[in-house]
Amino acid sequence: MTTEQDECMGSVKGQLAKLFEVSLKVTVPNEPDVEPLVAACNGKFGDYQCNNAMGLWSKIKGKGAQFRGPPAVGEAIKNNLPTSEMIESCFVAGPGFVNVVLSKNWMAKSIQKMLVEGIDKWAPLLPVKTAVVDFSSPNIAKEMHVGHLRSTIIGDTLARMLEFSKVKVLRRNHVGDWGTQFGMLIEFLFEKFPNFEDATETAIGDLQAFYKASKQRFDADPAFKERAQQAVVRLQGGEDKYRRAWAQICEISRNEFRKVYQRLRVHLEEKGESFYNPYIPGVIEALTKQGLVEESKGARVIFIEGINIPLIVVKRDGGFNYASTDLAALWYRLNEEKAEWIIYLTDVGQQKHFDLFFKAAKRAGWLPHGDSSYPKATHVGFGLVLGEDGKRFRTRNTEVVRLVDLLDEAKSRSKDALIERGKGEEWTEEEIESTAEAVGYGAVKYADLKNNRLTNYTFNFDQMLNDKGNTAVYLLYAHARICSIIRRSGKDVEELKNKGTLVLGHKDERDLGLHLLQFAEVVEEACTNLLPNVLCDYLYNLSEIFSKFYSNPECKVIGSDMETSRVLLCEATAVVMRKCFSLLGITPIYKI
Ligand code: ARG
Repeated sequence: MTTEQDECMGSVKGQLAKLFEVSLKVTVPNEPDVEPLVAACNGKFGDYQCNNAMGLWSKIKGKGAQFRGPPAVGEAIKNNLPTSEMIESCFVAGPGFVNVVLSKNWMAKSIQKMLVEGIDKWAPLLPVKTAVVDFSSPNIAKEMHVGHLRSTIIGDTLARMLEFSKVKVLRRNHVGDWGTQFGMLIEFLFEKFPNFEDATETAIGDLQAFYKASKQRFDADPAFKERAQQAVVRLQGGEDKYRRAWAQICEISRNEFRKVYQRLRVHLEEKGESFYNPYIPGVIEALTKQGLVEESKGARVIFIEGINIPLIVVKRDGGFNYASTDLAALWYRLNEEKAEWIIYLTDVGQQKHFDLFFKAAKRAGWLPHGDSSYPKATHVGFGLVLGEDGKRFRTRNTEVVRLVDLLDEAKSRSKDALIERGKGEEWTEEEIESTAEAVGYGAVKYADLKNNRLTNYTFNFDQMLNDKGNTAVYLLYAHARICSIIRRSGKDVEELKNKGTLVLGHKDERDLGLHLLQFAEVVEEACTNLLPNVLCDYLYNLSEIFSKFYSNPECKVIGSDMETSRVLLCEATAVVMRKCFSLLGITPIYKI
């Protein structure tokens, strides 16, 4: 029998919760819906604990229960726990905590099983099948700034974690490719390049400068302004020449964005604002029929209880805006794409917009009230990127940061560091290039991801490229070192996985094993709360716990009689580290 459940065990925490669920049903049969509360405790009180006894006691105490206080409830929960090879021992402590010590044998066997069957078996189980992650989403002809870089990096990681958890993820680039500014850009394009179709990226050069120049023209010359306004109408009316000019401008921008995505190896599917444009009138009409849309100061708006400023869905001039597009896109994602979880990544500055727009969708009955049921829409906000001076990040004397330059600099600095370490003589040019890339881009990503996303973070090359401390460089090197230990053992790991035996005899081995086994619940937490830094913390701790094991003379790997088992433990650590890197969008390195 191989059902989905059998294939994926879920986390250790989840497996224990299932056992406690059984026990709770027996212990308090009159309280059928008690959720088991299980948490890792990683201390002298065991590995996990179940915290239900205290809360249960206050629920049942008046009702003639047979227990005499929370510790007795805990005792009963313990006694009713089904036998399981997972558990070595169980005891009640303090006011009624039921502590669980995992079986070392079971732990060792589970890790070895993961080595044989692959880490995908450790994927957490999530309650959604399809999710939209709306991320990156820069605006055509405008700068793709560091805010978009954060959106790209964090969004990609969230998408990767959900994909690993078997969720079908629609990676959406909701680019700003529609709106009145296009009239001005198109008119300017016609003026500058009468044969506009020949106006390639190289001819136009810097699209942002082009944008600025056209804006100047727009502000200075009323006749131009007039033409620009007509151009919008003709574009929106679908006139061929205008559509082609628009497509061309989009294409030039797209080529710029692509350079960033290529370097970061981020995959996105573009469905820009223009895509949803045809759906807007129908959506607004439906909302109007429901009585949600009102007239206010010439605009059409949706009011939300308790909020003074309404959501404007049709502007005074009859045009649609950011919010109308977002409503249509949400409608499309829910009804056409059947997404159950729609996740939006932008800086926290847009929080109000999303709050208002989600509330409007709830009023319309598109989303359930409350945030615990599906379908669900979530705004994942993040803080600013700051420069050394504590102000919004800018490079040198230019106004905006060219993201491509930023990434190139990270790579070239990593390359210099490799040359300095003497790798120039040792490695091929190709190895240097690919390692410099992995380290440089990995450093930029990790420096962003390791912070709680809501806080601002300071962009600092020296810090992120330091090979000590909580950096990608340190972690990538740590991984490479583990690989070299395995190589030096001269053992064929594939053979060991099947023929050797992993045991967790020493405390440091057991600690490492326990941390490895907690991988699934950490990914689950990072997904549920949309917090990549949780995974970064886990990865950093993993390398620290590994170091403690490896540097302990009692846990000697090569040449000890526990060599086989310890090489397997090294391999398991390397496998989990690599999965963390892969979820964080970082390419691992194998030697240093
Ligand atoms: N283009 C927007 C910006 O640069 C971000 C779009 C986010 N996605 C959305 N569905 N509103 O700020």
